[in-house]
Amino acid sequence: MTEGGASATRHAPRGGGATASLPRRKRFLQGVLPGPREREHGAPSVEGMDITTRTVAVIGGTSGIGLELARRFRDAGSTVVVGGRSTDRFDDLRAEGLGTVEVDVADGGSVEHARDAVLEAYPDLDTVVTMSGIGVPEDLRDPAHFAIAERTFDVNVLGTIRIVDAFTPHLLARGNGTVVTVSSGIAFLPFPLMASYAASKAAVHAYSEALRAQLAGTGVDVAELVPPAVATTMGDSNPNALALDAFGAEVMNLLAQEPTPRELLVQAVQMHRWAERDGTYDELVVQRSAALATLPGRAD
Ligand SMILES: NC(=O)c1ccc[n+]([C@@H]2O[C@H](COP(=O)([O-])OP(=O)(O)OC[C@H]3O[C@@H](n4cnc5c(N)ncnc54)[C@H](OP(=O)(O)O)[C@@H]3O)[C@@H](O)[C@H]2O)c1
Repeated sequence: MTEGGASATRHAPRGGGATASLPRRKRFLQGVLPGPREREHGAPSVEGMDITTRTVAVIGGTSGIGLELARRFRDAGSTVVVGGRSTDRFDDLRAEGLGTVEVDVADGGSVEHARDAVLEAYPDLDTVVTMSGIGVPEDLRDPAHFAIAERTFDVNVLGTIRIVDAFTPHLLARGNGTVVTVSSGIAFLPFPLMASYAASKAAVHAYSEALRAQLAGTGVDVAELVPPAVATTMGDSNPNALALDAFGAEVMNLLAQEPTPRELLVQAVQMHRWAERDGTYDELVVQRSAALATLPGRAD
């Protein structure tokens, strides 16, 4: 990717591309799909996603969950481009068959350049994943935390909106496609140590709901990925974090369901998502507040 995000590097999909889609899809689904499972969250989204024939942009796909899902889409037969600021990783990502695009979601100009580059290299783009996110502990008794709040909202909330806005006209013109937004279990069950992060992810949830309603009838679908703690750079301090591989496999199974659930809820996040309904919310917030003792001067 060149300076300013003006080009995206494209790679052909592995395994034969879209022409082999139906047989490969059947094989893939036979291999990975679970049997009928109870869907915890009511109404499904518009239609199912064929994860073997998609052209996918994972913005925030240079590491962690985004890279895991990018690899799984690629392995299923889809064409994938990953975006982020870490251009030092691009050679390696390209070597494994992923396209790359430089983008800083906190910078509107960078997002526009990246959008143009992606659509030039991938005119058939039909899936956009808004994965970019940061999460940082904050001490709300110290007003100096505001810088963290500002940055967190700029990346997690406005960054999501910038990416959605950049690609929505293209998806609407296609008349089909999927936006996958990324919130968190913390959106539904606060983790008080990361206050702005929790608030930002609650905002992503609310925005995703509104986006889905506003795009209804256009053929463009919205699915919200709600990860629990997952062992990435962001989640590795949590001893209960889900292994990235297990999480990725479960998410792809959910994405391959027909129809795609409007919320992608792996088993481990159900307790967060439904704490209020299940009457466990107050007790869990108290438990999760114990981490506040890690803030300077709070141990007593
Ligand atoms: N891991 C967890 O426990 C967990 C739980 C719930 C939700 N989530 C959510 O899952 C998403 C992925 O997190 P992760 O755990 O995989 O963490 P990660 O490994 O740190 O990945 C974060 C990704 O976001 C990108 N990013 C950050 N700031 C960006 C910016 N300004 N512009 C463009 N891209 C940016 C990073 O790319 P560059 O650094 O290359 O820019 C990277 O690809 C986040 O939205 C996070 O909130 C994670």
